[in-house]
Amino acid sequence: MTASHAMPTTMTLDDVQQLMQEDMQAVNTLIRQRLHSDVVLINQLGHYIINSGGKRIRPLLLMLSAHVFDYDNEHHYTLAAVVEFIHTATLLHDDVVDASELRRGKQTANSLWGNEASVLVGDFLYSRAFQMMVGVQDMQVMEILSDATNVIAEGEVLQLLNCHEPDTTEAQYLEVIRYKTAKLFEAAAQLGAVLAKQPPEIEQAMIHYGQHLGTAFQLIDDVLDYSADSQAIGKNIGDDLAEGKPTLPLIYALKHSSPEEQAVIRHAITEGGRDNIEQITTTITQCGAIDYTAQAAANEAKKAMQALEILPTSLYTDALYALADFTIQRNH
Ligand code: IPE
Ligand code: IPE
Ligand code: MG
Ligand code: MG
Repeated sequence: MTASHAMPTTMTLDDVQQLMQEDMQAVNTLIRQRLHSDVVLINQLGHYIINSGGKRIRPLLLMLSAHVFDYDNEHHYTLAAVVEFIHTATLLHDDVVDASELRRGKQTANSLWGNEASVLVGDFLYSRAFQMMVGVQDMQVMEILSDATNVIAEGEVLQLLNCHEPDTTEAQYLEVIRYKTAKLFEAAAQLGAVLAKQPPEIEQAMIHYGQHLGTAFQLIDDVLDYSADSQAIGKNIGDDLAEGKPTLPLIYALKHSSPEEQAVIRHAITEGGRDNIEQITTTITQCGAIDYTAQAAANEAKKAMQALEILPTSLYTDALYALADFTIQRNH
């Protein structure tokens, strides 16, 4: 599936990663340095989760955004590490809340060290991120990142309220994913423009790009939770169903499948568990819920690309198009 967009992209994610290789190595070095603590458990658990991989999409986005505007100071490295720390902290907490056992192809930190350690090291990462962002000494940067962190927390709590709630609407679901996922993409995209002191209309374009990109990213994530290969995504399939989480594939199927099938889905959302996962996976595929969700993601990716139209053309702008394309084509 490829979104049609104004400017054809010929770059793949590999090309983008190649383009940004040195920069991302510098970001990774900084991440490792700033992970340090004299508390042994923080080092162990922190390095475990940080070294277990992860696509580093958010820091990549921030670095690309800075390059689009020819930013040539050092703060983009710091802020790229900051967004990855914030992201990683949300993952540590999220895996506790979701009782997940696999992340980045490895056992989750909570299954190895327990929930307490995961929550507390997550707090360490959040607060380390704040120590680092203060170093940039820019009030707007701090405002963007503190707002984003706060909104992510709101998104996770809103989602908790929707859990086991089969009457969750598509609008409620979209609000949750905008908060819990798109907001950090938005901040990452915006920060490159802010560092480079771009005018408001450019900053706004980057905000829109990040918001639509992040929404597409989570929509696909919710498709992959039913259709992916566990090895490819490094997470267990069916976690969403096990938690009774009403994501878009289920919300759509609850309107477009037979009364019997709907009853099975309602029961699964209310009770949680994986008992009927095969039947439900068949239902959401056959009633078009997977296609519908993938199409919603493609529409978001298209909007993200449209937001880029006012940017200066460059290899880095091309890379932003490629990132939107990857987001909807990805299987990991
Ligand atoms: C996982 O994000 C959480 C979601 C928002 C779906 P990523 O898929 O970017 O996770 P890593 O960092 O690559 O492991
Ligand atoms: C991702 O949420 C976590 C945040 C965005 C805070 P999910 O629970 O949907 O993502 P995975 O599937 O665990 O990565
Ligand atoms: Mg989760
Ligand atoms: Mg979750």
